[in-house]
Amino acid sequence: MRIDILTLFPDMFSGFFNESIIKRAVEQNCVSVVLHNIRDYSDNKHNKVDDYPFGGGAGMVMQIAPVATLIDKLKSERSYDEIIYMTPDGERLNQKMVNTLSLKGNIIILCGHYKGVDQRIRDYYITKEISVGDYVLTGGELAAAVLTDAVIRLIPGVISDETSALTDSFQDDLLAPPVYTRPADYNGLKVPDILLSGHEEKIRQWREEQAMARTRRLRPDLLE
Ligand code: ADE
Repeated sequence: MRIDILTLFPDMFSGFFNESIIKRAVEQNCVSVVLHNIRDYSDNKHNKVDDYPFGGGAGMVMQIAPVATLIDKLKSERSYDEIIYMTPDGERLNQKMVNTLSLKGNIIILCGHYKGVDQRIRDYYITKEISVGDYVLTGGELAAAVLTDAVIRLIPGVISDETSALTDSFQDDLLAPPVYTRPADYNGLKVPDILLSGHEEKIRQWREEQAMARTRRLRPDLLE
């Protein structure tokens, strides 16, 4: 899988992509993540990429030309399954969307800034608009990092215990059951006996019940 990220602030991603599971995924060629600075595609001598909104109003708008030039260049090099724009007015991200995206070959993720990008980019280039929640971030970078992380960890080979991604919260519309590790007794705080019983079927049943109870208590909307 290849993920091209179009941003005005590529440095925001460096710490994130150079750590832990994502770093390993990139090193093992499970995925390639390519950062593009939109500013490099400005034809303005000061590398300006934004301008005042037509019709007036507060804030600046990302201009069509640099973004269009960059997307056209990428599209001339390979075909893309999805061109995604991160925006608070997009479709709310959930596990089902993440699962679907993890099966794609090449995707572009455009990070918005200021008042957003010129609507013509959204109308003529973007195939999917995604929000990470009903709140406004200073830009699409953190949202793109969230999406990229959620997608990359599902790519086969990225998480060492492949079944663990399948038992995540939300994979079956349920929250995950509680987990415990050694010691079994910490100053009197004990692990449920059933988990120490070695009885696989009973443990599976207990986990299912716990997942259901936790979902009913914390996220009843998932059961509707
Ligand atoms: N850009 C700013 N806020 C955002 C959000 N909530 N989701 C996606 N992109 C954003």
